[in-house]
Amino acid sequence: MFDVKWSLDRNNVIGEVKKEIYGGFVEHLGRNVYGGVYEPDSPVADEDGFRKDVISLVRELDMPATRYPGGCYIDLERWEDSVGPNRKARLEPAWHQLEPNTFGLDEFMKWARKVNTEPLMTVNVANRTLMDTLSLYEYCNFPGGTYWSDQRRANGVEKPYNIKNWCLGNELYGPWEMGHMSAAEYGRLAREHGKLLKKKLDPECNIIVTGYPHDREWNRTVLDICGEYTDILSLHCGFAKTPERTERQYLERVDFFEKGLIETIKECKAYEALTGRHISISVDEWIIWDFDRRRRPEEEWTVGMHLLEQDYSIQEALITGSLFSCFHRYADWIDIACIAQSVNVIAPIRTEPDGTSWKQSIFFPFQLTSRNGRGMSLKIEELNNADKSIYGSAVLNEDNGVLTLFITNRSNEECKFTAEFDGISNVAESVVMDCDDHEKTNAPGDETVKPRPFTVALNGNTVEAVLPGFSWSMIKLSL
Ligand code: AHR
Repeated sequence: MFDVKWSLDRNNVIGEVKKEIYGGFVEHLGRNVYGGVYEPDSPVADEDGFRKDVISLVRELDMPATRYPGGCYIDLERWEDSVGPNRKARLEPAWHQLEPNTFGLDEFMKWARKVNTEPLMTVNVANRTLMDTLSLYEYCNFPGGTYWSDQRRANGVEKPYNIKNWCLGNELYGPWEMGHMSAAEYGRLAREHGKLLKKKLDPECNIIVTGYPHDREWNRTVLDICGEYTDILSLHCGFAKTPERTERQYLERVDFFEKGLIETIKECKAYEALTGRHISISVDEWIIWDFDRRRRPEEEWTVGMHLLEQDYSIQEALITGSLFSCFHRYADWIDIACIAQSVNVIAPIRTEPDGTSWKQSIFFPFQLTSRNGRGMSLKIEELNNADKSIYGSAVLNEDNGVLTLFITNRSNEECKFTAEFDGISNVAESVVMDCDDHEKTNAPGDETVKPRPFTVALNGNTVEAVLPGFSWSMIKLSL
């Protein structure tokens, strides 16, 4: 058993936790859309063909932002194929799928309203033109009286969507992208699309530009060229369990991401010092993926292929919990974060064609943090945590009179944990997630990797608990 002590002060604030850090991602990839969000033939489909079980699970997660429609998918996407009565089926080379376009922009927006989420609309800047972005904007945001806004109205959507968040391209620094380019090339394209959207069309919108957490040169070049029209720099991060990594090293990929985040923040600060323009950060894809891209040969070029359907254990639940704590710890910089992805594809929610669905292990820390981690993130003064076995965060919600602690114990040993805060009246809720078998995953009808209540004592202003080895906990305190 080792000891860790936290000391917290309501005046020692990092910043407000933005609700959009609990975002999701619906890419046209595998069974995320077809067979996940949308399955008109399913016994659990609603009047619009959306799966009702998925809607209710996404509502449980409470995801205020959702990125759409890609990902790598965006590079060869033509949004016009996905609206109106004459939908066009297309080859989708990013993932070797057939894209029927029966679920498109209007369906996504209808679904978004049902699950209370705001879109982060990705724009194909790699392979389309400013004219296409203009048409997309007109379709989405212009009230009427123009070709594309009237098309939207003819398609049954009278009022404009007023989309506020535009992501310019996806990971175009990567050789895997169809449209891979240099930072200077990307910067120029992003500048022109950003100028169109922000300067000419909607000064209130947020332009999200692709950054790279471990490449300061990329970020510097891109900001130099298009910083003027950038509100938010996007960072993607992946957590892969590779054979050479120990379990602890796998979990510490969160620390590796944190290092990249710190470097990126330095870059944003340098840019602000030079120009006076503040640019915040969107982690609009965080991916727990072992990079298994296997396909079932019989499914090649079909709709709703089984792709990236990774099972998660307690290990990934701990990564999810600690990553949210990382977002809290940089609440003053991070405006948005999206899990990649929402349903079936490296996702917290899984579905079967017979209408069943289940929660993966990562569902639970996501849901509990999303629902309880809203308020002001507090700075933690820590004692005895030199090897960072404990990785956590504290969020104070003065309106509700609640302080919530989120704690990951990355050691296999138990931890005698204490936290001090002036003015605690009682322990409102305390749950822990652990599992003796670190490889155990959930399955239909078996959601055993999940939280359970555990005992937390209150001694004056001090909270005391024994955190099991390899666990994630949430302790909610009434003030
Ligand atoms: O989330 C799966 C893929 O991972 C996305 O399409 C891409 O943006 C990322 O590399």
